[in-house]
Amino acid sequence: MSIELFRQGRHVCVMFARLGDEGGDAVQSNQFLLVNGDTGAILDPGGNIAYNELYLGMSRFFPPHKLAAILASHADPDIIASLDRWMTATEAPVYISRLWERFAPHFCKPGKTSGRVVGLPDGGERLRLGQGDDAFELWALPAHFMHAEGNFQFYDPVSRILFSGDLGASLGTTLNPEKPVKSLAEHIPRMEGFHRRYMVSNKILRLWAAMVRQLDIQMIAPQHGSPMVGPAVREFIDWVEQLECGVDLFGPANYRVPA
Ligand SMILES: [Fe+2]
Ligand SMILES: [Fe+2]
Repeated sequence: MSIELFRQGRHVCVMFARLGDEGGDAVQSNQFLLVNGDTGAILDPGGNIAYNELYLGMSRFFPPHKLAAILASHADPDIIASLDRWMTATEAPVYISRLWERFAPHFCKPGKTSGRVVGLPDGGERLRLGQGDDAFELWALPAHFMHAEGNFQFYDPVSRILFSGDLGASLGTTLNPEKPVKSLAEHIPRMEGFHRRYMVSNKILRLWAAMVRQLDIQMIAPQHGSPMVGPAVREFIDWVEQLECGVDLFGPANYRVPA
């Protein structure tokens, strides 16, 4: 099912949310399509379960050969396991951390990715994608260790949506990804357990918070669960900034030889 998050002229952001999977084998996950005129980008295309709907959704806006980029926040299976099919069906390069540049081809048949993996440097980059009048910007922001070693988030300066990957993810049966969250308080139970275990450390969250406070963010769109808008954006930044997680919480009790 697709949800239009933003539309202004020919600039459109669409979220594809698989609703049926929560409680099943595969975790609910979101994929994003950014359209600018007759071109666009796919953000975190997802696994093979997500491929058909996303491909058809994209084809409603522009033909597959017009796809300018596939962007991967990191290299987890729910982010990029469908890469082989995208490499076959389109001509677009895939942008991913330099750390995963030579790992991503393992998702594909031999040779499929040659010359088409663009490694993003640790510092990130303001990417200019597409050509001519339809060219557009998308900023790759450092998000390392949230939770992968080489990790990026993507900021669209037109819609001012921050596509945050696994940061801001919410899970559970009370979730409705169609409905953006405006106030964080009642949403925290859907996020807390995930962030405490999947995010690496509070130090990283504080560094991230200081970086994103410099941006005008209208929406945080995570790769699982509901987007956050309005007051929930600042409330989320404040919340994760003080959250203890990952290595902050681990000690000798977590490293015992199993009986
Ligand atoms: Fe992940
Ligand atoms: Fe994920």
